[in-house]
Amino acid sequence: MRMVLMGPPGAGKGTQAVSISRHYGVPHISTGDMFRAAMASGREVGARARAYIEQGKLVPDDVTMGIVRERLAEPDASRGFVFDGFPRTIPQAMELDSILSESGQRLDAVVLIDVPEEELVTRAAGRRVCAACNSVWHMKYNSPPAGVCSCGAELTVRPDDRPETVRARLAVYRSQTEPLREYYGASGVLRVVDGLATPAEVEKRILMVLEECGR
Ligand code: AP5
Repeated sequence: MRMVLMGPPGAGKGTQAVSISRHYGVPHISTGDMFRAAMASGREVGARARAYIEQGKLVPDDVTMGIVRERLAEPDASRGFVFDGFPRTIPQAMELDSILSESGQRLDAVVLIDVPEEELVTRAAGRRVCAACNSVWHMKYNSPPAGVCSCGAELTVRPDDRPETVRARLAVYRSQTEPLREYYGASGVLRVVDGLATPAEVEKRILMVLEECGR
């Protein structure tokens, strides 16, 4: 399985990528998680990404493609992958196509999780993330037992989930990532799934469209 989960900020890409990657036995590759890990560990790529992420802008394509190429070269990615939040621009999508075609591969599916904007703002505002194990919770939809993660660690608010940054991220999504709808629509791999349902129901919908794609 080689697939991309796309959708606006807070649509549930990360939530779904965890279960879909487990279902197919392939790695979940989130460029957002990779940037956050690089920032936390003090890697140079993290330092380059920080200012963009904090302002809700996209990290430049050359930096993003650098970490993606590095990740795809790891042995587990030869089995396939579920990309979460990548590609996010037409140049990134074109470069991914050319990386895959170098080894005779191509994407099996691109699933767009569609969620109305007012719900996206609610999802971002209530999101809490575990600093230790990276689990994602929601104060209303998936509330953490006793206010801490199930692993026992404290939960934090992502700095880019502040309302003004969420609005900036939504604007960036509309201008730079939405055009991928047409790009992947033209190549026939795009499937759109209604993301306004429980996580379990959205997962069922995604697995159903993937089966229709022959996976
Ligand atoms: P990234 O981490 O990828 O952020 P994002 O795309 O903005 O997406 P989110 O992580 O906010 O949301 P999600 O769709 O994963 O939703 P989640 O499952 O967490 O990127 C962060 C930044 O890094 C970017 O802004 C950019 O600067 C940079 N970056 C990353 N990739 C890049 C790239 N390719 N190029 C350039 N720059 C890049 O769910 C959200 C909340 O809702 C959670 O609390 C969850 O519990 C809850 N929830 C999930 N599903 C449901 C449901 N069905 N019902 C109710 N609640 C739900």
